[in-house]
Amino acid sequence: TAWLLLNGQLPAEEELAAWTAEIGRHAELHENIKKLVEGFRHDAHPMGVFLSVVGALSTLFPDAKRVLDAESRRTQIARLIAQVPAVAACAYRHSVGRPYVAPDPELSYAGNFLSMLYRGIEREYRPDPVLERALDVLFILHADHEQNCSTSAMRGIGSSQADPFAALAGAAAALYGPLHGGANEAVMHMFLEIGDPDIAEQWMHDAIAQKRLVMGFGHRVYKSGDSRVPTMRRCLEDLAAWKDDDTWIRMSDGLQKVMIGEKGIHPNLDFPAGPAYYMMGFDIEMFTPLFVMSRITGWTAHYLEQNADNRLIRPLSAYHGTDQREVLPIGER
Ligand code: COA
Repeated sequence: TAWLLLNGQLPAEEELAAWTAEIGRHAELHENIKKLVEGFRHDAHPMGVFLSVVGALSTLFPDAKRVLDAESRRTQIARLIAQVPAVAACAYRHSVGRPYVAPDPELSYAGNFLSMLYRGIEREYRPDPVLERALDVLFILHADHEQNCSTSAMRGIGSSQADPFAALAGAAAALYGPLHGGANEAVMHMFLEIGDPDIAEQWMHDAIAQKRLVMGFGHRVYKSGDSRVPTMRRCLEDLAAWKDDDTWIRMSDGLQKVMIGEKGIHPNLDFPAGPAYYMMGFDIEMFTPLFVMSRITGWTAHYLEQNADNRLIRPLSAYHGTDQREVLPIGER
C-alpha cells in the first residue's frame, strides 16, 4: 500500500523485496532518540511525546534539508515509514515503564510494531495472526484520506520547503485534536461511559435531545455514510468473535440505529475503529499514535506530490472587521 501511494502503482516482486529491505534497514532508532523519550514524564500522553520526537528526527538526518533533491526526499520518507512505528512503540513502553525493544526484520510491518510494543523476555515474539491481520487492515484503511485537516497541514508545511520530518510532526499535531484523529479515543471513552449495550439506544435518544455532538458520527465528505466503515465493521466482528465478546458490537448497533434513524447522521471510520483498537488490547491513549502510523504513507505521498510542482500554500481569507479605526493613546482607551 505504501509503495502504491508513493509511486502510483503496485510494485513488481523485486521492487517489493527491495522496498521491504530498505524499510527494515532504516528501522532501528538512534540512541539519542531513546534518551529523548526517556526525558518525558511517565504519564505524558504518547501523542505529545510522539510530536516532539518525530520533529527531532530531522536533527539526526541533516540530509533531510535537501528537500529539492528527489533522491533525498525518498530516503527521508523510507526513514519515516520505518522509524515512526519504533518512535510510537518507544513512547508507549516509556509510559508503562518498560525498556525499548529493537525492531525484528523477520516480522511484517504490523507484526514488528506489535513486537516492539509487547515483547517481553521471550527469545522470539510471534504476534497473534488475528491481531496482526486486524492491524494491517486498520493501517490500509487509514493510509490516505485526501485533503483532510492533517493532510492539508502536511502539504502546507511541505510547501514552505520544510523537511518531511518537520512537516509530519505538524500533520500529526493536526490529527491529535478530537474533531479529527482524536475522535477514535473519544469514541471509546463514550462507549465505556455508556457501559451497558442495553442502554445504548436510550443514551443516544438523550444525547440527541440535548443536542450533544456525538463522537464517531458525521463527516464533512461522506454525508450518507463513510465508505471505509463496512470493511472496518467486518474487522470489528472478527475481533469480537476472536474475543468471544459482542459487547461493543451491540453497543455500536444500538447507538447507530438511533442516530441514523432520528438524525440521518452516519458513523465515520472512528466509530468502529475505537472499539476495534480496544479489543486488540491497545491503551486508549495509543489510539491516535496508531492512527498517525497508518497515515504516514498517505501524508508522505502528498508531500511528494506537493513538492513535484510546488508553490507556497497561502490560503486567502476574507476580512469581516471594521474599516478604519482611530488609534487612541494607551491611556485613553
Ligand atoms: N453529533 C451530533 N450532531 C452532528 C454530528 C455529530 N457527530 N455531526 C454533525 N452533526 C450535526 C451538525 O451539528 C449539523 O447540525 P445543524 O444543521 O443543526 O447545525 C448537522 O449535523 C450537519 O453537520 P455537517 O455539516 O454534516 O457536519 P460538519 O461538516 O460541520 O462537521 C464533523 C463534520 C466531522 C466535524 C462533525 O460531524 C463532528 O464533529 N463529528 C464528531 C467528531 C468526529 O467523529 N470526527 C471524526 C471525523 S472522521
